[in-house]
Amino acid sequence: MSETYFAMRDICKSYHVGDEDQMVLRHVNLSIEEGEFLSILGPSGSGKSTMMNIIGCLDVPTSGEYILRDRNVGELDQHQLAQIRCHEIGFIFQQFQLLPRLDAMRNVELPLIYAGVSRGERRQRAEETLCRVGLKDRLHHYPNQLSGGQQQRVAIARALASDPTILLADEPTGALDQTTGHQVMDLFQELNGEGRTIIMITHDLNIAKRGRRIVNILDGELSEGVSAYD
Ligand SMILES: Nc1ncnc2c1ncn2[C@@H]1O[C@H](COP(=O)(O)OP(=O)(O)O)[C@@H](O)[C@H]1O
Ligand SMILES: [Mg+2]
Repeated sequence: MSETYFAMRDICKSYHVGDEDQMVLRHVNLSIEEGEFLSILGPSGSGKSTMMNIIGCLDVPTSGEYILRDRNVGELDQHQLAQIRCHEIGFIFQQFQLLPRLDAMRNVELPLIYAGVSRGERRQRAEETLCRVGLKDRLHHYPNQLSGGQQQRVAIARALASDPTILLADEPTGALDQTTGHQVMDLFQELNGEGRTIIMITHDLNIAKRGRRIVNILDGELSEGVSAYD
């Protein structure tokens, strides 16, 4: 039988606020194949970051099943979840989340330290991925010496360096102007063309359309949207 790459089945997430349970994700079903570029499109407050946290194994659902490469995430312990975050998911955030006191190389190397990669290999991978995102001549620049678009490229290199199963991006263009945002989307499309699986969360339809498939989220309910480019 072929591997289940990614499947969410009847996922619900509630938060307990005061003396009420507030349901933020409602019976979400979502399957993704290897090599997809999926956009999750929804307005503020619709549950996008909650989805990201569950997909990225930063949080667990209240009910339902999440299968990632044949593993039932709900059955994993804290250590195993940390291993998945480290090796399977490449996180990209709106605000880049770079460390200001580290240059581009060291920002990219940092998660590889936690992953136990040797120093020599860390350097090599950091340099390779920074070159891949077009920052060959910015290896030793600090975040405050880089434009927003360049900082996001460093963050993308950092996400790529561990060779993750899925690139998971939450509003990756949210802090960028329109032109720079679309340049980052050009890079996402190139990486997807090289076989990278991408899940991107956004509130911006024009950005969402850069993916190959769109699902909409509204009040915690997911529905299949328009298929976009080509
Ligand atoms: N830790 C939390 N506790 C209580 N409510 C939360 C928590 N996190 C998010 N929510 C609520 O869940 C809803 C969805 O939030 P979120 O997933 O951040 O939406 P989005 O990223 O689409 O803006 C919002 O109504 C928000 O107030
Ligand atoms: Mg959000």
